[in-house]
Amino acid sequence: MVEDGKVLSNIISSQVFHEQYGGVVPELASRAHQKLIVPIIKQALGKADVEKGELDGVAATYGPGLIGSLLVGLNFGKAMAYGLGIPFVGVNHMEAHIFSNFLRDGSTKGKNTQPKFPFICLTVSGGHTQLIYVKKPFEYTMLGQTIDDAAGEAFDKVAKMLGLGYPGGPKIDKLAQEGDKTFVSFPRSYLSENSFDFSFSGLKTSVLYYLKKIGFSAKASSARTEDRQLLVNICASFQAAVVEVLVDKTIRAAEKYNVKDITIAGGVSANSSLRKDMGEEAAAKGFRLHIPKFEYCTDNGAMIAMVGWMKLKEYPYNSFDFELGPAPNLAL
Ligand code: KG4
Ligand code: ZN
Repeated sequence: MVEDGKVLSNIISSQVFHEQYGGVVPELASRAHQKLIVPIIKQALGKADVEKGELDGVAATYGPGLIGSLLVGLNFGKAMAYGLGIPFVGVNHMEAHIFSNFLRDGSTKGKNTQPKFPFICLTVSGGHTQLIYVKKPFEYTMLGQTIDDAAGEAFDKVAKMLGLGYPGGPKIDKLAQEGDKTFVSFPRSYLSENSFDFSFSGLKTSVLYYLKKIGFSAKASSARTEDRQLLVNICASFQAAVVEVLVDKTIRAAEKYNVKDITIAGGVSANSSLRKDMGEEAAAKGFRLHIPKFEYCTDNGAMIAMVGWMKLKEYPYNSFDFELGPAPNLAL
C-alpha cells in the first residue's frame, strides 16, 4: 500500500512450497493466489492502519506473468475497486520494476536520491532482461532485451544443474562470494558489437558441457570439501560472465544516450556482485546509480501500487477494460 509514493505496507506471500518442485508450478501458484489474496489484503490494510473505505484506487498487474495468477489478481482488483466505487488501474509488471526505484524509502541511498529523467534502466528478472531508455514517466524506448533466456532464468537453470534448488539466483550469489571468478573462463555473449540485446543460453550450455567434462556430481559436492571448493568457483565464474555483460551494456547505453542516471531493477538486481560492479563502473564513469532496497528488487506489491498511484495522478483513470497481457515491449 502506497500513499503519495511512500510505502505504508508491503506484504509478500512467498510461496515456498514451489521449492520442492524445483520451480514455480503455474497451477499451484494460481490456487495459492486465490486462497491467500483476501488475508494478504487484510494484512496490508492492517499494517498500514488504513480502512478500505479510505482507499483512492486499486492497482493490479495485468501482465506479463503467469496467466492463472494474473487472472486472480486482476479480477479481484477490479471487483474490489468496483465494490468500493474507486478507480482501477492495470499495471505492466515490467514498468512497475522500473519504478521500484521511486518508492520513497525504496532507494538504498535514501529518499532524496530518486533517479532523474531521462535515465537508463536495466530490468533483470526471472522472465525478462530489458535495457530501457526512460525519457519521462510512461515514455520508454526499449534498447535491447534477451533473445533467449532471461538473466534470472540462467541463474535458476545453472543452479539446478549444480543441485542447488530453486530459486537459484540467491543461492549462486551466496556461494560465489567464497569462489574464484577467474577459475573457469565462461563465454561472454555480446552478440554484435553495438547490440544492446542479451543472450544467456550459450553460457548456460557451456556450464553444462563443463560440468559433464569434469564429471561434476551435485550429490558428491555436498559431502566433499574439495568438491565444495569447485562448486563455489563454478558459481563465481558463471556469475562473473553474466554480470560483466550486464554491466558493460548498461554503461555503454548510458554513454550513448547521454544520461546521468542509471537504475537497475528486478530480482537479479538483488545480486551482490551486480550491485557492486555496476556501482564501481558507474562511479568511475561519472554516472549516478540507483538500486532498489532488497525487498523491492524481487516481486512485490509496493511497486505495483506505486505505478497505480503515479497513473491515477496523471490521468483520470477509471477503467475496468484492462485485459491480460500487455505488449512485452512496454508499449502501453
Ligand atoms: O523479479 P523477480 O522476483 O520475478 C520475476 O518477475 O521473474 O525475479 C526472480 C528472479 C529469479 O530468477 C531469481 O533466481 C533471481 O530473480 N534472483 C537473483 C537473486 N535474487 C533473486 N539472481 C541473482 N542473484 C540474486 N541475489
Ligand atoms: Zn518481476
